[in-house]
Amino acid sequence: MKTYPNVTIFDHPLIDHKIAILRDEKTSMKEFRELVEEITTLMTFECLREGVPTTEIQVQTPLEVCTQRVVQDDAIVIVPILRAGLGMVNGVHVLFPSAKVGHIGLYRDEETLEPQEYYCKLPKQISEKLVLVVDPMLATGGSACDAIRKLKDHGCKHIKFMAVIGAPEGISRVAEAHPDVQIYVSTQDRCLNDHGYILPGLGDAGDRLFGTK
Ligand code: PRP
Ligand code: URA
Repeated sequence: MKTYPNVTIFDHPLIDHKIAILRDEKTSMKEFRELVEEITTLMTFECLREGVPTTEIQVQTPLEVCTQRVVQDDAIVIVPILRAGLGMVNGVHVLFPSAKVGHIGLYRDEETLEPQEYYCKLPKQISEKLVLVVDPMLATGGSACDAIRKLKDHGCKHIKFMAVIGAPEGISRVAEAHPDVQIYVSTQDRCLNDHGYILPGLGDAGDRLFGTK
């Protein structure tokens, strides 16, 4: 597959190990939910290496005063794409508890695979923040593209997108439609099936997170 400067595929052995359990159809809802959170935390650590607004403060150690870089409290807004993106929010909050959360509700039409919007509630001043859009599955890329477009329409200029599993089709689509958005994917799968599901994938992430099958 073509490579893109705005795409990072983690291919990390510790994340891959967790994804193996995530894929397994026998993994329980509880374990699935915990794994999505853990993987998200690992991804966030790397994803926020760059682009996070910081300030410098003075800290009195037991020995002397030093200047220390810290992240700005209100620098980040997490935007999960409902429903499945909700499963990733706590994974970011573990590292960045003060992040506000905006919600974009999209579901894929089963016939056309086109995303349909049903909800949008974003924090004030989101346009000035680093926005971290999260969704475990990047399949055709339609949902991610729509969510990012909506955020840009709200004036957001600094957007990153994180997905656990990406199909080549979806990765290319988002990377080309939004070259200014950094995209982070834990693992890239083989392809989509005729119903737009990622192969080998893990099935329907929303159903597995919330027990709706
Ligand atoms: C899933 C997933 C993504 C979308 C990915 O959501 O969580 O949002 O599909 O597919 P795409 O890249 O082809 O747009 P779904 O529409 O099944 O809704 P849900 O999260 O409520 O289950
Ligand atoms: N959404 C999912 O939850 N799984 C897929 O494989 C594709 C879209």
